[in-house]
Amino acid sequence: MTKEIYDLGERPELGVTPPKMHAFVVRQDRFGEPDKAWQREVIDTPEIKADEVLIYTMATGINYNNVWAAMGIPVDVIKDRLKRGEKEEFHAGGSDCSGIVWKVGGDVKDWKVGDEVVVNSGTWDPECEVVKSGGDPMLSPTTRIWGYQTNHGSYCQFAKAQGHQLQPKPKHLTWEESGAYLLCAATAYRQLMGFAPNTVKKDDLVLIWGGAGGLGSMAIQIVAALGGRAIAVVSDENKRQFCMDKGAIGVINRKDFDHWGLMPNTDDKEYGKFIKGARGFGKAIWEIAGKRESPRIVFEHPGESTLPTSGFLCDTGGMIVICAGTTGYNITMDLRYHWMMQKRLQGSHLANDDQAKAVNELVMEKKVDPCLSETYTFDEIGKAHQLMKENKHPHGNMVCLVNATEKGQGAS
Ligand SMILES: NC(=O)c1ccc[n+]([C@@H]2O[C@H](COP(=O)([O-])OP(=O)(O)OC[C@H]3O[C@@H](n4cnc5c(N)ncnc54)[C@H](OP(=O)(O)O)[C@@H]3O)[C@@H](O)[C@H]2O)c1
Repeated sequence: MTKEIYDLGERPELGVTPPKMHAFVVRQDRFGEPDKAWQREVIDTPEIKADEVLIYTMATGINYNNVWAAMGIPVDVIKDRLKRGEKEEFHAGGSDCSGIVWKVGGDVKDWKVGDEVVVNSGTWDPECEVVKSGGDPMLSPTTRIWGYQTNHGSYCQFAKAQGHQLQPKPKHLTWEESGAYLLCAATAYRQLMGFAPNTVKKDDLVLIWGGAGGLGSMAIQIVAALGGRAIAVVSDENKRQFCMDKGAIGVINRKDFDHWGLMPNTDDKEYGKFIKGARGFGKAIWEIAGKRESPRIVFEHPGESTLPTSGFLCDTGGMIVICAGTTGYNITMDLRYHWMMQKRLQGSHLANDDQAKAVNELVMEKKVDPCLSETYTFDEIGKAHQLMKENKHPHGNMVCLVNATEKGQGAS
């Protein structure tokens, strides 16, 4: 007989789902510091629609989006969903997942109960015209990030996803390694390969901010796998070797410079200080490149603090591609360098299924390592987000175990 709820790791018979499950959840009345906002609760196991699957979650990756969700900024994801007519007054997040398909909706043809999978977090309405007409679904107005803008993500014992989100779990990886990488890897892949003609080509120089972070560690390896040359930026010397080991050709410590933040007005005396700093930073790139060479692609996500420098030093005809504004949302840059040198400033957000598949194949071919930094327990989900918010987390991607109760399981 099906029990009301199972302990973590106490596996029901394949395909059997209990009515209740354990989950890590945020509620509006505790928005704030992530280690307080994220709390363990028992909630109803979700029902699935015809195009959806239920996954028995083995491990969950920790991503920055759920730092934002915990704080309720820049959007209140619960309020947004209530406005769209959803009923739950909580956010059970989690956007990176390794697990076992446990239930399959009638329209899902590619996957069956028992398949071992990882989950790309791009979701959309399959009936949307953009999707139906074969366009890039990430440009659909219905696109939502799974486990951030949608509920019942991978901080749930049973996670609910759309069937198209699934990719095969790389067999050589453990559950925790498999849960670590796909959101950052797929996002980085789209930034680097999704915006032709500004895609990584052999020998291209690519500047990567936050090289030891979740996105950065993936970006360095993707650039190297595609034959490009990655230069990583870090804020601490102890991250240097990590970036070199992942395939960077050189590393710059941003603490050696102090021209960060909004760009001063070009008429202002302070502008001189900015341009001197940005030129010095460009020189550090030339030293690593061994010649006067500018990056063809600047891989951006810090945003406000670094964008003036990114805009200044990007190559003629090159691209600054940005997927976040971790340090702030105000863009300043010296437009003269932008138009005269015909640069491109490109926004990017997560990845479509093809991009997720392409980068997952690089992982399966062992060309991209998940960069699992630290594996925490389920009850440490809040703590892991807090470390991330304070930029005190270890290099790479963090994971929390869900139904995999011990490290090292799942690889063959
Ligand atoms: N739109 C999307 O689809 C998408 C997908 C994934 C992530 N994101 C966003 O991208 C951002 C980064 O995510 P992540 O997973 O890579 O986070 P992460 O693991 O915390 O890495 C971010 C890196 O940024 C660097 N950084 C922090 N403050 C900085 C500053 N003031 N100037 C320059 N660099 C700074 C840090 O490296 P150093 O201190 O060593 O420089 C850090 O390692 C987050 O805001 C996240 O929400 C967006």
